[in-house]
Amino acid sequence: MILAIDGPAASGKGTLAKRLARHYGLRHLDTGLLYRAVAAALLDAGHPADDRARAIAAAKAIDPARFDENSLKRYEVGEAASVVSAVPEVRAALFDFQQAFAAGPPGAVLDGRDIGTVICPGADVKIFVTASPEERARRRVLEMRGRGQSVNESEVLADILRRDERDRSRAAAPLVQAPDAHLLDTTQLDIEGSFRAALAIVEKARK
Ligand code: DC
Repeated sequence: MILAIDGPAASGKGTLAKRLARHYGLRHLDTGLLYRAVAAALLDAGHPADDRARAIAAAKAIDPARFDENSLKRYEVGEAASVVSAVPEVRAALFDFQQAFAAGPPGAVLDGRDIGTVICPGADVKIFVTASPEERARRRVLEMRGRGQSVNESEVLADILRRDERDRSRAAAPLVQAPDAHLLDTTQLDIEGSFRAALAIVEKARK
């Protein structure tokens, strides 16, 4: 079984994908980490995120086996990942890895922006996870404060809106709900409630 989980930044799709994978005994790939690794390679070497040639070279050279997830989850890396992910050649360089991951036994859960539309258009079940921008900003702030970072909630909200706009309006594989994806709005749901709702969608779709 292949599950495609897409949605905007801080929608809760990653947590959901992880739990679904554990529940069904599937492998899980957070595809945002691939774009984050490209962005981190640029930032760590002192290059701007909009250096297309370097971003393409970095995408061709990344090694997911050596990812340091904690470091890649840094806030500034997410913003830069949104910039490098708009480059079609970067997306093309990461395409085969994602498709091969999805195809391996016993199946997989992939979360990202274009899983249901581009990477796994034939996925068994597709879920598009959303939440209001204000709720997503609130969650992101809690997460960052939990890591000891001091943050300003209105700045986080502005960043989320800017990232949404960039991810949705780019020409290459924009963030969009696949026509056959089930919409899951988690604005009013906690983690457990979101998981239960996703499980109900998957079970119904499998019948
Ligand atoms: O899900 P995330 O916040 O880790 O993703 C970081 C950025 O990577 C996001 O703003 C857009 C890009 N991305 C993408 O374009 N396609 C994906 N499948 C996953 C992430």
